[in-house]
Amino acid sequence: MLLHVEKLRAGYDRMEILRGVSVEVARGELVAVVGPNGAGKSTLFKALMGLIVPSAGTVTYRGEPITGIRTDLLVKKGIGYVPQGRVVFPRMTVSENLSLGAFSERDKRRLDAARDRVLTIFPELRDRLGRRAGLLSGGEQQMLAMGRALMSAPNLLLLDEPSLGLSPRYVSVVFTKLADLKAHDLAVLLVEQNATRALEASDRGYVLDMGEVRFQGPGPALLQSPEVQALYLGVT
Ligand SMILES: Nc1ncnc2c1ncn2[C@@H]1O[C@H](COP(=O)(O)OP(=O)(O)OP(=O)(O)O)[C@@H](O)[C@H]1O
Ligand SMILES: [Mg+2]
Repeated sequence: MLLHVEKLRAGYDRMEILRGVSVEVARGELVAVVGPNGAGKSTLFKALMGLIVPSAGTVTYRGEPITGIRTDLLVKKGIGYVPQGRVVFPRMTVSENLSLGAFSERDKRRLDAARDRVLTIFPELRDRLGRRAGLLSGGEQQMLAMGRALMSAPNLLLLDEPSLGLSPRYVSVVFTKLADLKAHDLAVLLVEQNATRALEASDRGYVLDMGEVRFQGPGPALLQSPEVQALYLGVT
């Protein structure tokens, strides 16, 4: 298993949000985490990325315990993270934003190679490289946020709500890119509001509610489950 999360508990101050969450991602797998607003999806990612410290449970990456390890060290170990909300640095250029994603890379040739790799997945960024990120469309900013996370050449990418707030055209682009990432043998843990589409695209999925995993299984099986449909997919 690439990522193994076992009975993770985490929250804010004294408020526990994640109440023993177990999640697994295999190499090259696309795994979706869906669930209602406030379920704890983003909190799970924050706990995995060392942005909040878990109170219990373990996280193992390639067999190595990484629970509570610092964010920059996790990135060096090969975990990329795209937070919710298309976070780019608006006054910096696209090119500068990308370089920030390879913050530990001092070698210019390797930096150029990383950028070329990212631009083969996101060719639409190529003729925007000199433009300020704040001037890009929402969809382009999401491509940039994803591209920046790929600059460190991760084996696992945590993607929090990549399609949220995008136009239908860009929602489709995001899901196409997910397939491209899979073709590059990258494992993705995906959080999505667009639960139906995310589960259709995923190898496996988890339904998180109130900080607990309620259902898990292959994406299509979850989609067809009457309970999941009634409770989480708005099917009546
Ligand atoms: N920084 C914070 N301090 C205190 N409570 C927080 C903080 N961030 C989130 N919460 C609370 O934790 C709970 C889970 O939030 P989280 O952002 O993980 O949910 P989510 O599943 O990602 O929801 P959404 O679909 O709205 O993004 C919510 O009740 C939220 O109010
Ligand atoms: Mg969230």
